[in-house]
Amino acid sequence: MTNLGVKFAGLDCSSPIWTASGTFGYGAEFDRFLDLRALGGIVTKGISPKPRAGNPLPRICETAAGMINSIGLENVGVDGFAQNKLPFLRKCGTNVVVNFFGETIDEYVACGAALDALDGVDALEMNVSCPNIKKGGVEFGTESNVLRDLVRACRAAIKKPLLIKLTPNCTDVVSISRAAIESGADGLSVVNTISAMAIDARRRRPRIATIFGGLSGPAIKPVALRMVFEVHRALPDVPISGIGGIQSGEDVVEFLLAGASTVQVGTQNFAEPSAAARIGEELKQFLSEEKIDDVNELIGGLKIK
Ligand SMILES: Cc1cc2nc3c(=O)[nH]c(=O)nc-3n(C[C@H](O)[C@H](O)[C@H](O)COP(=O)(O)O)c2cc1C
Repeated sequence: MTNLGVKFAGLDCSSPIWTASGTFGYGAEFDRFLDLRALGGIVTKGISPKPRAGNPLPRICETAAGMINSIGLENVGVDGFAQNKLPFLRKCGTNVVVNFFGETIDEYVACGAALDALDGVDALEMNVSCPNIKKGGVEFGTESNVLRDLVRACRAAIKKPLLIKLTPNCTDVVSISRAAIESGADGLSVVNTISAMAIDARRRRPRIATIFGGLSGPAIKPVALRMVFEVHRALPDVPISGIGGIQSGEDVVEFLLAGASTVQVGTQNFAEPSAAARIGEELKQFLSEEKIDDVNELIGGLKIK
Protein backbone atom coordinates (compact mmCIF):
# COMPACT_ATOMS: atom_id res chain seq x y z
CA MET A 1 0.00 0.00 0.00
CA THR A 2 1.27 3.45 -0.93
CA ASN A 3 1.35 5.94 1.94
CA LEU A 4 -0.14 9.33 1.07
CA GLY A 5 -0.25 10.55 4.67
CA VAL A 6 1.90 13.47 5.83
CA LYS A 7 2.36 15.32 9.09
CA PHE A 8 2.16 19.08 8.90
CA ALA A 9 2.79 21.40 11.86
CA GLY A 10 1.06 19.02 14.25
CA LEU A 11 -1.74 18.03 11.85
CA ASP A 12 -2.17 14.47 10.60
CA CYS A 13 -3.14 14.72 6.93
CA SER A 14 -4.43 11.70 5.02
CA SER A 15 -3.13 13.34 1.82
CA PRO A 16 -0.75 16.24 1.13
CA ILE A 17 -3.50 17.88 -0.96
CA TRP A 18 -5.53 20.70 0.59
CA THR A 19 -7.77 23.27 -1.06
CA ALA A 20 -6.78 26.97 -1.00
CA SER A 21 -8.48 29.86 0.76
CA GLY A 22 -11.07 31.76 -1.28
CA THR A 23 -11.33 29.10 -3.96
CA PHE A 24 -13.32 26.46 -2.07
CA GLY A 25 -15.94 28.52 -0.20
CA TYR A 26 -16.52 27.14 3.27
CA GLY A 27 -16.27 23.53 2.09
CA ALA A 28 -20.01 22.75 1.92
CA GLU A 29 -20.32 24.30 -1.56
CA PHE A 30 -18.05 21.54 -2.93
CA ASP A 31 -19.49 18.59 -1.03
CA ARG A 32 -21.50 17.36 -4.05
CA PHE A 33 -18.49 17.45 -6.38
CA LEU A 34 -15.98 15.33 -4.46
CA ASP A 35 -15.43 13.24 -1.35
CA LEU A 36 -14.02 15.83 1.05
CA ARG A 37 -12.50 13.03 3.17
CA ALA A 38 -10.02 12.42 0.34
CA LEU A 39 -8.47 15.83 1.07
CA GLY A 40 -5.71 16.41 3.62
CA GLY A 41 -7.34 19.69 4.60
CA ILE A 42 -9.70 22.47 3.61
CA VAL A 43 -8.63 26.09 4.02
CA THR A 44 -11.66 28.36 4.43
CA LYS A 45 -12.29 31.73 2.85
CA GLY A 46 -10.49 34.44 4.87
CA ILE A 47 -12.47 35.42 7.98
CA SER A 48 -12.44 38.91 9.51
CA PRO A 49 -13.85 40.03 12.87
CA LYS A 50 -16.99 41.46 11.20
CA PRO A 51 -18.71 40.41 7.92
CA ARG A 52 -17.48 42.20 4.76
CA ALA A 53 -19.27 42.85 1.46
CA GLY A 54 -16.07 43.00 -0.58
CA ASN A 55 -15.12 45.22 -3.53
CA PRO A 56 -17.28 46.66 -6.35
CA LEU A 57 -17.72 44.72 -9.63
CA PRO A 58 -16.02 43.74 -11.87
CA ARG A 59 -13.71 41.97 -9.48
CA ILE A 60 -12.55 38.97 -11.49
CA CYS A 61 -11.05 38.71 -14.96
CA GLU A 62 -9.43 35.94 -16.94
CA THR A 63 -5.83 36.32 -18.13
CA ALA A 64 -3.47 34.13 -20.15
CA ALA A 65 -2.92 31.05 -17.97
CA GLY A 66 -4.70 32.44 -14.96
CA MET A 67 -7.02 35.05 -13.50
CA ILE A 68 -6.92 38.31 -11.58
CA ASN A 69 -9.22 38.82 -8.60
CA SER A 70 -10.00 41.68 -6.31
CA ILE A 71 -12.82 40.15 -4.26
CA GLY A 72 -11.90 42.43 -1.35
CA LEU A 73 -12.05 39.61 1.21
CA GLU A 74 -15.83 39.28 1.26
CA ASN A 75 -16.76 36.95 4.12
CA VAL A 76 -19.34 36.13 6.79
CA GLY A 77 -17.27 37.31 9.79
CA VAL A 78 -16.28 35.29 12.86
CA ASP A 79 -19.78 34.92 14.34
CA GLY A 80 -21.39 34.01 11.01
CA PHE A 81 -18.63 31.46 10.44
CA ALA A 82 -19.06 29.88 13.88
CA GLN A 83 -22.85 29.70 13.61
CA ASN A 84 -23.45 28.85 9.96
CA LYS A 85 -20.31 27.37 8.40
CA LEU A 86 -18.45 25.49 11.12
CA PRO A 87 -21.20 22.91 11.89
CA PHE A 88 -20.74 21.42 8.40
CA LEU A 89 -16.96 21.61 8.54
CA ARG A 90 -16.86 19.81 11.92
CA LYS A 91 -18.34 16.75 10.23
CA CYS A 92 -16.53 16.90 6.89
CA GLY A 93 -13.86 14.36 7.84
CA THR A 94 -10.74 16.37 7.07
CA ASN A 95 -8.58 19.04 8.70
CA VAL A 96 -10.23 22.44 8.92
CA VAL A 97 -7.75 25.26 8.51
CA VAL A 98 -9.31 28.69 8.97
CA ASN A 99 -7.77 31.57 7.06
CA PHE A 100 -8.12 34.93 8.83
CA PHE A 101 -7.07 38.58 8.65
CA GLY A 102 -7.65 42.05 10.04
CA GLU A 103 -6.94 45.65 9.17
CA THR A 104 -4.92 46.34 12.33
CA ILE A 105 -2.85 44.18 14.66
CA ASP A 106 -5.63 44.36 17.27
CA GLU A 107 -8.16 43.09 14.74
CA TYR A 108 -5.90 40.21 13.73
CA VAL A 109 -5.42 39.23 17.36
CA ALA A 110 -9.15 39.44 18.18
CA CYS A 111 -10.09 37.40 15.11
CA GLY A 112 -7.36 34.79 15.61
CA ALA A 113 -8.20 34.35 19.31
CA ALA A 114 -11.93 33.97 18.62
CA LEU A 115 -11.31 31.33 15.92
CA ASP A 116 -8.73 29.52 18.07
CA ALA A 117 -11.37 29.02 20.76
CA LEU A 118 -13.80 27.26 18.38
CA ASP A 119 -14.20 23.51 18.58
CA GLY A 120 -13.70 22.01 15.10
CA VAL A 121 -11.01 24.45 13.97
CA ASP A 122 -7.80 22.42 13.58
CA ALA A 123 -5.35 25.17 12.60
CA LEU A 124 -5.23 28.82 11.60
CA GLU A 125 -3.71 30.33 8.47
CA MET A 126 -2.99 34.05 8.70
CA ASN A 127 -3.31 36.09 5.51
CA VAL A 128 -0.68 38.83 5.71
CA SER A 129 -1.34 40.21 2.21
CA CYS A 130 -3.71 42.82 3.66
CA PRO A 131 -3.01 46.54 3.74
CA ASN A 132 -1.82 47.83 7.11
CA ILE A 133 -4.14 50.80 7.61
CA LYS A 134 -1.87 52.34 10.27
CA LYS A 135 1.22 52.11 8.03
CA GLY A 136 -0.15 53.81 4.91
CA GLY A 137 -1.64 50.69 3.37
CA VAL A 138 1.56 48.67 2.87
CA GLU A 139 0.91 44.91 3.05
CA PHE A 140 1.73 43.48 6.52
CA GLY A 141 3.72 40.67 4.96
CA THR A 142 6.18 42.78 2.97
CA GLU A 143 8.30 44.14 5.83
CA SER A 144 10.02 41.86 8.35
CA ASN A 145 9.62 44.22 11.31
CA VAL A 146 5.93 44.80 10.73
CA LEU A 147 5.36 41.08 10.29
CA ARG A 148 7.32 40.26 13.44
CA ASP A 149 5.05 42.48 15.57
CA LEU A 150 1.94 41.00 14.00
CA VAL A 151 2.97 37.35 14.36
CA ARG A 152 4.20 37.78 17.94
CA ALA A 153 0.93 39.38 19.00
CA CYS A 154 -1.17 36.68 17.31
CA ARG A 155 1.00 33.84 18.56
CA ALA A 156 0.44 34.95 22.15
CA ALA A 157 -3.33 34.68 21.61
CA ILE A 158 -3.45 31.45 19.56
CA LYS A 159 -2.78 27.92 20.86
CA LYS A 160 -3.57 25.91 17.72
CA PRO A 161 -1.06 25.47 14.87
CA LEU A 162 -0.49 28.87 13.27
CA LEU A 163 0.54 29.13 9.61
CA ILE A 164 1.57 32.39 7.98
CA LYS A 165 0.51 32.74 4.35
CA LEU A 166 3.27 34.66 2.63
CA THR A 167 2.79 37.28 -0.02
CA PRO A 168 4.97 36.98 -3.12
CA ASN A 169 4.90 40.79 -3.40
CA CYS A 170 8.09 41.17 -1.37
CA THR A 171 11.77 41.51 -2.22
CA ASP A 172 13.21 38.85 0.11
CA VAL A 173 10.94 35.93 0.89
CA VAL A 174 13.61 34.25 3.04
CA SER A 175 13.98 37.11 5.52
CA ILE A 176 10.19 37.45 5.72
CA SER A 177 9.94 33.69 6.41
CA ARG A 178 12.58 33.89 9.13
CA ALA A 179 10.73 36.78 10.77
CA ALA A 180 7.50 34.73 10.79
CA ILE A 181 9.13 31.61 12.25
CA GLU A 182 11.24 33.47 14.83
CA SER A 183 8.04 35.18 16.00
CA GLY A 184 6.35 31.86 16.73
CA ALA A 185 4.67 30.63 13.54
CA ASP A 186 4.46 26.83 13.15
CA GLY A 187 4.52 26.74 9.35
CA LEU A 188 4.29 28.76 6.15
CA SER A 189 1.86 28.78 3.22
CA VAL A 190 3.71 29.86 0.08
CA VAL A 191 2.24 31.84 -1.77
CA ASN A 192 -0.69 34.22 -2.08
CA THR A 193 -1.55 35.99 -5.37
CA ILE A 194 0.86 38.29 -7.24
CA SER A 195 -0.16 41.94 -7.57
CA ALA A 196 -1.28 42.53 -11.16
CA MET A 197 -3.57 44.45 -13.52
CA ALA A 198 -5.39 43.96 -16.84
CA ILE A 199 -6.53 46.59 -19.33
CA ASP A 200 -9.43 46.59 -21.82
CA ALA A 201 -7.82 48.33 -24.81
CA ARG A 202 -11.11 49.17 -26.63
CA ARG A 203 -12.70 50.73 -23.57
CA ARG A 204 -9.38 52.14 -22.33
CA ARG A 205 -10.31 50.97 -18.85
CA PRO A 206 -8.93 48.63 -16.21
CA ARG A 207 -10.69 45.26 -16.28
CA ILE A 208 -10.95 45.26 -12.47
CA ALA A 209 -12.88 48.00 -10.65
CA THR A 210 -10.11 48.50 -8.08
CA ILE A 211 -7.52 48.62 -10.95
CA PHE A 212 -5.14 46.17 -9.21
CA GLY A 213 -5.89 42.61 -8.23
CA GLY A 214 -4.12 39.35 -7.45
CA LEU A 215 -2.87 37.07 -10.23
CA SER A 216 -3.33 33.32 -9.68
CA GLY A 217 -3.36 30.11 -11.71
CA PRO A 218 -0.67 28.35 -13.78
CA ALA A 219 0.84 31.75 -14.69
CA ILE A 220 2.29 31.99 -11.16
CA LYS A 221 3.46 28.40 -10.69
CA PRO A 222 7.14 28.99 -11.56
CA VAL A 223 7.29 31.96 -9.16
CA ALA A 224 5.63 29.94 -6.38
CA LEU A 225 7.97 26.98 -6.91
CA ARG A 226 10.99 29.26 -6.73
CA MET A 227 9.76 30.77 -3.46
CA VAL A 228 8.98 27.37 -1.89
CA PHE A 229 12.44 26.16 -2.86
CA GLU A 230 14.20 29.28 -1.52
CA VAL A 231 12.36 29.10 1.81
CA HIS A 232 12.94 25.34 2.18
CA ARG A 233 16.65 25.70 1.39
CA ALA A 234 17.06 28.39 4.06
CA LEU A 235 14.72 26.84 6.67
CA PRO A 236 14.67 23.08 5.97
CA ASP A 237 12.79 22.12 9.15
CA VAL A 238 9.87 24.49 8.62
CA PRO A 239 6.63 22.94 7.28
CA ILE A 240 5.65 24.57 3.98
CA SER A 241 2.29 24.36 2.23
CA GLY A 242 2.97 25.06 -1.47
CA ILE A 243 0.42 27.06 -3.46
CA GLY A 244 0.31 28.47 -6.98
CA GLY A 245 -1.15 27.18 -10.22
CA ILE A 246 -1.46 23.52 -9.25
CA GLN A 247 -3.46 21.64 -11.89
CA SER A 248 -2.12 18.08 -11.92
CA GLY A 249 -0.55 15.32 -9.86
CA GLU A 250 2.82 16.14 -11.37
CA ASP A 251 2.46 19.77 -10.29
CA VAL A 252 2.00 18.46 -6.73
CA VAL A 253 5.16 16.38 -7.03
CA GLU A 254 7.11 19.44 -8.21
CA PHE A 255 6.07 21.40 -5.09
CA LEU A 256 6.94 18.46 -2.82
CA LEU A 257 10.38 18.11 -4.43
CA ALA A 258 10.94 21.85 -3.92
CA GLY A 259 10.33 21.37 -0.19
CA ALA A 260 6.59 21.66 0.47
CA SER A 261 5.03 18.92 2.62
CA THR A 262 1.45 19.85 1.71
CA VAL A 263 0.04 21.75 -1.28
CA GLN A 264 -3.14 23.73 -1.90
CA VAL A 265 -5.26 23.64 -5.05
CA GLY A 266 -6.74 27.07 -5.81
CA THR A 267 -7.86 28.60 -9.11
CA GLN A 268 -8.34 25.18 -10.73
CA ASN A 269 -11.37 24.61 -8.45
CA PHE A 270 -13.29 27.29 -10.40
CA ALA A 271 -12.84 25.54 -13.76
CA GLU A 272 -13.22 22.04 -12.32
CA PRO A 273 -14.87 21.77 -8.89
CA SER A 274 -13.67 18.18 -8.41
CA ALA A 275 -10.07 19.07 -9.35
CA ALA A 276 -8.54 18.26 -5.96
CA ALA A 277 -9.87 14.68 -6.11
CA ARG A 278 -8.59 14.13 -9.66
CA ILE A 279 -5.20 15.59 -8.73
CA GLY A 280 -5.07 13.18 -5.75
CA GLU A 281 -5.69 10.23 -8.09
CA GLU A 282 -2.96 11.49 -10.43
CA LEU A 283 -0.55 11.74 -7.49
CA LYS A 284 -1.29 8.10 -6.58
CA GLN A 285 -0.73 7.09 -10.21
CA PHE A 286 2.62 8.95 -10.27
CA LEU A 287 3.78 7.21 -7.09
CA SER A 288 2.80 3.83 -8.46
CA GLU A 289 4.54 4.43 -11.81
CA GLU A 290 7.69 5.61 -10.04
CA LYS A 291 7.49 2.72 -7.52
CA ILE A 292 7.43 5.09 -4.54
CA ASP A 293 5.64 3.61 -1.53
CA ASP A 294 5.66 6.71 0.69
CA VAL A 295 4.88 10.23 -0.53
CA ASN A 296 7.17 11.63 2.21
CA GLU A 297 10.15 10.41 0.17
CA LEU A 298 9.50 13.21 -2.31
CA ILE A 299 9.52 16.09 0.17
CA GLY A 300 12.60 18.25 -0.40
CA GLY A 301 13.95 15.60 -2.78
CA LEU A 302 15.00 17.91 -5.60
CA LYS A 303 18.39 16.91 -6.98
CA ILE A 304 20.55 19.97 -7.50
CA LYS A 305 24.00 18.43 -7.86
C1 LIG B 1 -11.05 34.36 -6.04
C2 LIG B 1 -9.92 34.17 -5.07
C3 LIG B 1 -10.11 34.47 -3.72
C4 LIG B 1 -9.07 34.30 -2.80
N1 LIG B 1 -9.27 34.60 -1.48
C5 LIG B 1 -8.26 34.43 -0.58
C6 LIG B 1 -8.46 34.71 0.81
O1 LIG B 1 -9.57 35.06 1.27
N2 LIG B 1 -7.39 34.58 1.65
C7 LIG B 1 -6.16 34.16 1.20
O2 LIG B 1 -5.22 34.05 2.00
N3 LIG B 1 -5.96 33.84 -0.11
C8 LIG B 1 -6.98 33.98 -0.99
N4 LIG B 1 -6.76 33.66 -2.32
C9 LIG B 1 -5.44 33.16 -2.77
C10 LIG B 1 -5.44 31.64 -2.96
O3 LIG B 1 -5.73 30.97 -1.75
C11 LIG B 1 -4.08 31.15 -3.53
O4 LIG B 1 -3.04 31.51 -2.62
C12 LIG B 1 -3.75 31.77 -4.88
O5 LIG B 1 -4.91 31.84 -5.69
C13 LIG B 1 -2.66 30.99 -5.62
O6 LIG B 1 -3.04 29.65 -5.87
P1 LIG B 1 -3.70 29.19 -7.29
O7 LIG B 1 -2.79 29.71 -8.37
O8 LIG B 1 -3.76 27.70 -7.24
O9 LIG B 1 -5.05 29.82 -7.35
C14 LIG B 1 -7.80 33.81 -3.25
C15 LIG B 1 -7.62 33.49 -4.61
C16 LIG B 1 -8.66 33.65 -5.51
C17 LIG B 1 -8.43 33.29 -6.96
